[in-house]
Amino acid sequence: RRQKPANGTNAKQEQLSNFTTDHTPLITTNQGVQIPDNHNSLRAGARGPTLLEDFILREKITHFDHERIPERVVHARGAAAHGYFEVYRSMSQFTCADFLQDPAVKTPVFVRFSTVAGSRGSADTVRDVRGFAVKFYTQQGNYDLVGNNIPVFFIQDAMKFPDLIHSVKPEPNNEIPQAASAHDTFWDFASLMPESTHMLMWAMSDRAIPRSFRMMEGFGIHTFRFINARGESHFVKFHWKPKLGIHGLAWDEAQKIAGKDADFHRRDLWEAIENGDFPEWELGVQLIPNDKEHAFGFDLLDPTKVIPEEMVPVQRIGRMVLNRNPENFFAETEQVAFHPGHVVPGIDFTNDPLLQGRLFSYTDTQISRLGGANFHELPINRGVCPFHNFQRDGMHRMTIARGQVAYEPHSLIDGKDFRVDGGSAGFQSFPEDLEPPKVRRRSPSFDDHFTQARLFFNSQSAPEKEHIIAGFRFELSKCEVPAVRQRMVDNLAHVDEKLARRVAEPLGINPPDAKAAAGRAGFRDHRITMPIEESPA
Ligand code: HEM
Repeated sequence: RRQKPANGTNAKQEQLSNFTTDHTPLITTNQGVQIPDNHNSLRAGARGPTLLEDFILREKITHFDHERIPERVVHARGAAAHGYFEVYRSMSQFTCADFLQDPAVKTPVFVRFSTVAGSRGSADTVRDVRGFAVKFYTQQGNYDLVGNNIPVFFIQDAMKFPDLIHSVKPEPNNEIPQAASAHDTFWDFASLMPESTHMLMWAMSDRAIPRSFRMMEGFGIHTFRFINARGESHFVKFHWKPKLGIHGLAWDEAQKIAGKDADFHRRDLWEAIENGDFPEWELGVQLIPNDKEHAFGFDLLDPTKVIPEEMVPVQRIGRMVLNRNPENFFAETEQVAFHPGHVVPGIDFTNDPLLQGRLFSYTDTQISRLGGANFHELPINRGVCPFHNFQRDGMHRMTIARGQVAYEPHSLIDGKDFRVDGGSAGFQSFPEDLEPPKVRRRSPSFDDHFTQARLFFNSQSAPEKEHIIAGFRFELSKCEVPAVRQRMVDNLAHVDEKLARRVAEPLGINPPDAKAAAGRAGFRDHRITMPIEESPA
């Protein structure tokens, strides 16, 4: 039973419907020629060889032969849905982003949830981080908030991303194991990268085995900037808070479900929406004034750190409802191209070195995944506002641009001189003062890898702590290199000595050196609240 979205149609839905086709009673070739028989190829006699001349057979088989496109290099397995976002009150005090101004406006969204490590055909309930990617089709262009369900990341610099992924993916010699993190290479890498410790706490917790996509938080992770109409900047962290709360599976349950119903999460999302039980999230922001950049005991640019909610409260500024399943998995869920660099006026980047690397990676990978430079023209990726520039040609170009002019400045269209408006209407990058010189070095402000790991561990209830200990035990029991296991346990001692000992004992690993567990610097006592005014500034 298909439910009509509560909100009626929207601009994106109307746009997509122009590309949607229904089955017709007649089957034709791609050139529109009706075919007489869809069962038999053309033969020289009923028992003779098939004729090369049979263009109907050739076209059908050729198209089939080319059905597959490369899966995403990460986040290959996913499920997605359409919906809308609405802001509760104008955020003009902080940002000029058009979709965050008017509570009466419903902005269409397309959201894809994913696992990170598994292939397209892998199971849903494995222990892994989940992607939480939201495309807002705004009137100022597409804005993508490409986040995860865990608020921090394994590494601090994009330079290490290929290494991280190579360590977590199946091993190159035998393509084993297909399931997430339980193997030597991952633990080898993780134990040599102390900056991953905080993320490991989350990855071994119940957050990494969610019960449902509908019951996960989402996070933008990096610190971004909001820019208002006066050009003023505030730092912002994005949060998605699920209406259904946060729920995990038990590990035993997760493993059994993976065997019995590999599509558990995608089925859950699909069925909830088909039944009219639309999942909802609230968008929360943590707002930090520009001059408080250095007010914390950690670096805002470090993606292995959260800003604890006790230090900067999360303020809920809007809600997102997913109310329509895709018509076609390939055309929508598979061909959608998210990119953290798709921003709109009023939202800008920071110098987080992980984010900066991502800004290069996504379009680059999509050029090969989606075949050329024109994938922004695919129905799911098109903006709902007009777009125009003088880019032309390329593989699979679909737009037919009129006239002789494909350059700027120009004066040949009706004798007029069309120029780019150099005024303030377009995207303005925040004019941040930058510190020279150019260096290939990490800032010492990124050095503390354990305080927040301990903070997370200590925030857990007693049973949740047991789950984390069990998670480490299970995963490390699959790691067969004694030195790697030892190194990992020694790292854990920096977080909590008891945790390290409890993980080590049943695995026959030597207890960690007690000195290694000596405390590290804590946070400065600092709390920042930026009240969002009722009436726009
Ligand atoms: C895909 C999140 C770091 C490269 C994705 C997707 C998500 C995501 C959610 C799936 C998008 C979809 O559903 O189609 C994140 C987060 C990161 C992170 C939250 C860290 C905070 C990185 C880094 C790189 C990277 C550092 C590379 C330097 C990619 C690539 C894809 C991808 C190549 C595949 C995109 C495609 O084929 O369309 N990421 N990622 N990611 N990510 Fe990341």
